[in-house]
Amino acid sequence: MDDRTAGRYDGKVAVVTGAGSGIGRAITEQLLREGASVVANDLDVSALAADESPGRLVTVAGDVSADDMPQRLLDAVVTLGGGRVDVLFNNAGIGSARPALDIRPDEWRRVMDVNVDAAFRLATTVGRVMVDQGAGAILNTASVAGTHGLPSRVAYVVSKHAIVGMTRALAVEWGPSGVRVNAICPGLTESGMSERLKRDSPDYWAAREAVVPLRRAGLSAEQASTALFLCSDEAAYISGMIAEVDGGTHALYAGYTVQRPTS
Ligand SMILES: NC(=O)c1ccc[n+]([C@@H]2O[C@H](COP(=O)([O-])OP(=O)(O)OC[C@H]3O[C@@H](n4cnc5c(N)ncnc54)[C@H](O)[C@@H]3O)[C@@H](O)[C@H]2O)c1
Repeated sequence: MDDRTAGRYDGKVAVVTGAGSGIGRAITEQLLREGASVVANDLDVSALAADESPGRLVTVAGDVSADDMPQRLLDAVVTLGGGRVDVLFNNAGIGSARPALDIRPDEWRRVMDVNVDAAFRLATTVGRVMVDQGAGAILNTASVAGTHGLPSRVAYVVSKHAIVGMTRALAVEWGPSGVRVNAICPGLTESGMSERLKRDSPDYWAAREAVVPLRRAGLSAEQASTALFLCSDEAAYISGMIAEVDGGTHALYAGYTVQRPTS
């Protein structure tokens, strides 16, 4: 740990969803390293080792979209810090790769339940505490699919555009109460979600990396470090930001992913 970030989260209480893998796990590990106490939710929390940070990690296993999950997470916050909650990382999400003409109503509903409804319900449950405190920071994990169209991913694209909209709406609504709300939009990122794609379709993965201006996929740790910055006091004047953490992908007009002849 470098000295600049040491203790940046000392004494803070954070809630992280989707904490068992990928970006959420990296966020949780960085928070613990920087001194925070963390309530970590996932369907599977077995990858999180409580013994590395005694007394500062409480895991809550279960579906983030379950009706009782926001209250279960707040109850866990009380066991950690007496009820104060400084940061929420609304990160759990699922993919959906189905063309618009084929998607079934139950798949559409599931993507909206996990990616949108659960994130909104948790934001409002935790946001109520933050508004009462007069302080807090929320970070939503959107995607490049939150600002762009992708083929055969309509449910995912709609859900992540909703997260971008929710981020802006809550930032303007809760700003007067001292609560900041931001989002990251990861581009292609090495995580649990993308692991199978990289393993099963290496040529496709390489082609995707080749059109990233930085010529590689991002790391979950790189998404996490941006997320932690946006929720730290260093970013005290940043709210409503949609931060595209994508190696420059959003800056490239898609028509120019095909190289123009030079002569
Ligand atoms: N990896 C990428 O390339 C990429 C790109 C853009 C956006 N994202 C977003 O980043 C976020 C994190 O994904 P990741 O890439 O780290 O993937 P991941 O699969 O490694 O992690 C997602 C975690 O969320 C958990 N989860 C899924 N559904 C859940 C539920 N109903 N309740 C509780 N936990 C649940 C999973 O068990 C998993 O541990 C997601 O919102 C995803 O949409 C990822």
